[in-house]
Amino acid sequence: MCGIVGYIGDGSAKEIIISGLKSLEYRGYDSAGIALHRGGKLLLRKESGVIANLEKRITKKDFDGNLGIGHTRWATHGAPIRENAHPHMSCDGRIAIVHNGIIENYMELKAWLVKNHDVEFKSETDSEVIAQLICVYYKDDLVAAVRKAVARMRGAYAVGVISADDPDHIVAVRKDAPLIAGIGEGCNYLASDIPALLRYTRDIYLIENDETVIISKDDIKIFDGDMTRVKREKMHVTWDAAAAVKGGYEHFMKKEIYEQPEAVNKTLEGRINAKGEVKLDGIKLTKKELDAINRIYIVACGTAYHAGMQGKEVIEGFARIPTEVDLASEFRYRKPIVDSNTLFICISQSGETSDTIEAMREAKRKGARILSICNVVGSSVTRESDDVLYTWAGPEIAVASTKAYTTQLVCLFLLALYMGRARGTLLPKEYKRIVDELKKLPAKLTEALGTDEHVAKLAKKFSVREQIFYIGRGSDVGTSYEASLKLKEISYINSFAIAAGELKHGTIALINRGTLFIVFATQDYLYEKMLSNIEEIKARHAYVIAVAKKGNTRVGKISDDTIMIPECADEVASILAVVPMQLFAYHIAKLRKRDIDKPRNLAKSVTVE
Ligand code: G6P
Repeated sequence: MCGIVGYIGDGSAKEIIISGLKSLEYRGYDSAGIALHRGGKLLLRKESGVIANLEKRITKKDFDGNLGIGHTRWATHGAPIRENAHPHMSCDGRIAIVHNGIIENYMELKAWLVKNHDVEFKSETDSEVIAQLICVYYKDDLVAAVRKAVARMRGAYAVGVISADDPDHIVAVRKDAPLIAGIGEGCNYLASDIPALLRYTRDIYLIENDETVIISKDDIKIFDGDMTRVKREKMHVTWDAAAAVKGGYEHFMKKEIYEQPEAVNKTLEGRINAKGEVKLDGIKLTKKELDAINRIYIVACGTAYHAGMQGKEVIEGFARIPTEVDLASEFRYRKPIVDSNTLFICISQSGETSDTIEAMREAKRKGARILSICNVVGSSVTRESDDVLYTWAGPEIAVASTKAYTTQLVCLFLLALYMGRARGTLLPKEYKRIVDELKKLPAKLTEALGTDEHVAKLAKKFSVREQIFYIGRGSDVGTSYEASLKLKEISYINSFAIAAGELKHGTIALINRGTLFIVFATQDYLYEKMLSNIEEIKARHAYVIAVAKKGNTRVGKISDDTIMIPECADEVASILAVVPMQLFAYHIAKLRKRDIDKPRNLAKSVTVE
């Protein structure tokens, strides 16, 4: 996600900010910019793409100063183009801001600024309203203006502000987005993350929620929400930059697994209103259009395809529309039955997967409406879609997809609920029950992460295996496929997933004494069936690790090991059951000394056929 760096002192703000932004590359970004104070004016340069593009634009000596703010943007509202890059300036060019997070009520604020203050907006971002609001409130006190603006903002933010009229201060505020102040000698810093400052200082203040920080060359003052001065202990950073980039985790994959509660929270944020109704920002489908849809294809590759398998279950279950799931590489070459009553749902983390894009184009040519579920704003898939539902998982760096998958599932659930409600196929009571379950997911995901230690022990026991089977029924089939793919991708163990009921039609011949089976039994309505499946494979001397919901103890009695996930409704169990499986794959790969974040032969974004 976005990164922020600020500097005030006697050094070159340009150099320090650029170098700080470069060390935030791991956050992922698609444009960068910098605003400097010089001679009573604010100078601004921004550019889409890599930081090197920005550097090319700021080679001139006259673009420098001793005070400035910079930003790397990972697009949320508005395409990743220069106009939408930060910093954003007020109309009069006297205020510049950088912002991480999302201003949920930006539309309302924008309308107010246009109507009452004739503000002309230059970007499509939510962030620009902050600069314009501060400008409207600014008389001669920048801090007061920032506080007034913040009082009107809803959402999450870390904001850095400078003014042409104030050559001596950077003002910053934070709510639910990271922010730190760095302590220098005769200079001070502002940043979203510690790695941005490690070249310059290891002494920092952590800024807490609702606090305001005023940074000058010689001083850093922190205030609470009532503007009472706060005394903060400084923190001395002892770890190195590489560890800091991964937030203390050894691998990006582990970090991203652990980010799932927060990522799912972001996916849900603003999409369930106070009345418990699902509101989907990027979906323009009307009730009439929804009623006309008589067939849905969900098309994707890899992990996104497994999310699609779960999507079929919930869409058919809630919205009662016949839904097919297909691999993009297959769909594009067969003769699918598509017309203007077809809804084509395309799932892609990157939005750049070649097979997925071509399948989508094929469906479009045949007249389908295109709805995409995607993580990257402005990617090819989103540009060519009629409707877009963003996953808001934040950049996923590890090749093996984890938080993108769980947030794709959440998006599919939201979509299925939305369709079910609009079409009248889902009873209000059922609708409410699922909405309530979704709201509990971030906390339950945290609980599911609590299996880590136990799973690590199991991984140790089985890391030398060369073959592992995964089975389940209902939504556990999709989970089996995804769990198996995770293991293959990063450990290079031959794993195989199959619907439990299909086992007896061939694959059962592969069982030897001790063959390892991971058996999912998370669906209450299929529980008895799964117990029978376990008996069947145990009778052939297989070794069984069962994955079940807490409280379902019978499975433990007949299995060799168990992994318990939090109690939950059957419908959402897939979102929780995959977590210990991501961890299992991770620990096995680590024990086998694999290159976890960049497994051999794989790429994060497959832009070739
Ligand atoms: C590659 C990645 C997978 C991913 C698939 C689809 O194969 O290695 O992890 O699931 O592409 O990617 P997408 O960006 O379209 O979700």
